[in-house]
Amino acid sequence: MSSEPYKNVYLLPQTNQLLGLYTIIRDKKTARPDFIFYSDRIIRLLVEEGLNHLPVQKQIVETDTSENFDGVSFMGKICGVSIVRAGESMEQGLRDCCRSVRIGKILIQRDEETALPKLFYEKLPEDISQRYVFLLDPMLATGGSAIMATEVLIKRGVKPERIYFLNLICSKEGIDKYHAAFPDVKIVTGALDRGLDEHKYLVPGLGDFGDRYYCV
Ligand code: URA
Repeated sequence: MSSEPYKNVYLLPQTNQLLGLYTIIRDKKTARPDFIFYSDRIIRLLVEEGLNHLPVQKQIVETDTSENFDGVSFMGKICGVSIVRAGESMEQGLRDCCRSVRIGKILIQRDEETALPKLFYEKLPEDISQRYVFLLDPMLATGGSAIMATEVLIKRGVKPERIYFLNLICSKEGIDKYHAAFPDVKIVTGALDRGLDEHKYLVPGLGDFGDRYYCV
């Protein structure tokens, strides 16, 4: 179900199970092995939800009982694109669902002089314009990097309606800005947080996702 008031925002069902997973990763006392394990479980749910929205065509197969089963098969090719570094944490979740999926990378960092996001590196599959793209970044805070990464994809010929932006937590500010820039991109998320603090961290948030997943 698309989440009101946004046309293309898909919020994971807010079940007690999901709330329990977020409770663990948001808890500052959670150590890195558990942070990784429970984040990975949420990432898997996000990938599965993204896959739910891909177009399919009818496919009939014959079962072992010699009866037909009216099924479907996915209609296109997909790839992942992670926003380095935190987005790389979501690559395995995508690989677990889509065997040998191609994954590109985009590196955006804050320019020291202007304090604005700056594109440092992009490496994307050659035929990306013909693919559905799962854009991976766990936290949507101000929206600056996600917007720049999406612009890179569109410049490479990817249609906005073929982009699925997967993240664990969105700020209201970030989702408003991103959705206004790309109303046709599908955003798949597990949590909408109320805002950002003075350091542009999500609140209540969970701190620095990349640090907690890779370093701390
Ligand atoms: N990136 C993070 O890792 N955490 C935030 O709260 C915002 C951006």
